[in-house]
Amino acid sequence: MTEPVARRAAACPSWQALAAAARSCTVCPELVASRSTVVVGDAPANSRAVLVGEAPGAEEDRTGRPFVGRSGRLLDDLLAEAGLARADVAVLNVVKCRPPGNRTPTRAEAAACGGWLDRQLELLAPEVVCTLGLSAMQRFLGRRSTLAAARGRLHSVDGRDVLATYHPSAALRFGPAGVPRAALREDLRTLAALLGRP
Ligand code: URA
Ligand code: SF4
Repeated sequence: MTEPVARRAAACPSWQALAAAARSCTVCPELVASRSTVVVGDAPANSRAVLVGEAPGAEEDRTGRPFVGRSGRLLDDLLAEAGLARADVAVLNVVKCRPPGNRTPTRAEAAACGGWLDRQLELLAPEVVCTLGLSAMQRFLGRRSTLAAARGRLHSVDGRDVLATYHPSAALRFGPAGVPRAALREDLRTLAALLGRP
């Protein structure tokens, strides 16, 4: 399942070419049946970091843009607190089609769609990748990693700097006084500092 995506993605010479190819992807039958669109991701022209989430939710599936629902609004607020705007960061997901009922993507789906993600990262060549939540962290740091242990510091993965943090949906679930909210706030400040923001 993985190979066709990786091969198609490798053949894309630009972000636009990849976006067009991904929009016609039909590799995951269950997601193809339920999605209304493929959420390729946002890549503002001068972004220097890439945030990677898990998969589109309902509002993302409706609008075609990543992190525009409740999680996205919290993300925007915490980015702003850290001195960053959405225009400073690209926002991608491990899986680009909404899983039915927002279930966690299967390993096969994450492995397949990871072919698009890997090529997107090659094309964008960000200074740092910031993973949001478990699915994205495990894609880079392996399945034995835990957020509690890995978050908040840089990991070097295949020559890339990876900062892991919680997903905004966890920050919402555990509330304003919960551990994930404080950690996400702190880690986005770390990201801003890495990019040279005050
Ligand atoms: N959650 C994600 O992981 N990604 C989105 O794009 C929206 C919600
Ligand atoms: Fe293709 Fe990714 Fe959608 Fe699966 S989730 S159908 S690999 S774009």
